Amino acid sequence: MFFFVEEMESLVTQQRDVRMLSQKIVDRSCAGLLHAGDYEIDALNMAPPKARRICGSLAAGLDRLHARNGTTFRVTRNWIDELRATMSQAFIASVEESTHPATEGFEDLAWIFTCDSRNRRLIRQGFDEAALLWKAAKATSGNILEIGRNLAGSTVLLAAAAALDREIYSIDNRSHEDRACKDYLGRVANKSRVHLLVADSRVPIPNLRFGFLFIDGDHTFEGVLADVVAHWNALQSSGQYPALVAFHDALPNDNFKWRDADRRLKRLWIRLKNKFRKRQKLEVAPDYEPGVLKVCDELIRQGLATKWQSAGSMLVVKKLGDLPRNFSEVAREVQAT
Ligand SMILES: C[S@@+](CC[C@H](N)C(=O)[O-])C[C@H]1O[C@@H](n2cnc3c(N)ncnc32)[C@H](O)[C@@H]1O
Repeated sequence: MFFFVEEMESLVTQQRDVRMLSQKIVDRSCAGLLHAGDYEIDALNMAPPKARRICGSLAAGLDRLHARNGTTFRVTRNWIDELRATMSQAFIASVEESTHPATEGFEDLAWIFTCDSRNRRLIRQGFDEAALLWKAAKATSGNILEIGRNLAGSTVLLAAAAALDREIYSIDNRSHEDRACKDYLGRVANKSRVHLLVADSRVPIPNLRFGFLFIDGDHTFEGVLADVVAHWNALQSSGQYPALVAFHDALPNDNFKWRDADRRLKRLWIRLKNKFRKRQKLEVAPDYEPGVLKVCDELIRQGLATKWQSAGSMLVVKKLGDLPRNFSEVAREVQAT
């Protein structure tokens, strides 16, 4: 019997165990993503060619899921969460792979370094993520909009990457720039073209168009959604230059792997303390923000964007079209299911 994850999810909430679920599974007799036997659930590769690429990566990323009769809702729910994460990644990975340019500069050599959170300082990014941000800025033309500058390390990088005829607008709801970054941005070459706005990023900036957007502010689903809704339609390509959007913290990554590797004792300690806590603490800090990925997924799913490149947690997408009026509602519906 074949069914889709979404179908399974709605059934599970009603039926609560896998035996009941398997009775309810719909035989679609057409392309399916999963196959449910009596005791296990398997990823299948039965879709038409384009979809098959998604299934292929899904199957590659999945362990076989053993669904014993009587398995509880909670356990099943965990499988579904895993499946959704894998699906999401498979989806993003399966869309148009960027054309990797021939090595042309230092920024293309991130792969010769160890890149993780240890190199963060005034910029809150790994070296590979910053290199990608640099490349994306250089691949575009026109104004740049940055959402979330914090210490302004990323604003410095954008100002350095952008040709002198480009204006950089950076929004943060607080002014928290590091002195050295502020000095750099105050230099003659930057002063008149870098605008440090202190404002809520959810409010659109009237009468401005951008060639590149860097979204790194509020990382919740609603926060990213609001930023996208506020600024997406002000983004436009120009001639040979694509309209790009970089999302930080969008993808699972190894940025904190080094830190968590030797933390077994600490994790055990957190686990023990959790037994007495009302609000549980995570044993390992999350390496990306699922809300960011969900909004990216939705943009790609609706055909409004396609993947350009990624590095670490940074995902850069190319804009394909303006947002429809009901984008938020549809995105919320998809997120709620
Ligand atoms: C992760 S930091 C940005 C890091 C910076 N881009 C970098 O790479 O170094 C996120 C920033 O977003 C800002 N922020 C969060 N929500 C915001 C909102 N609704 N409007 C404007 N700024 C916001 C925070 O104040 C914070 O400085």
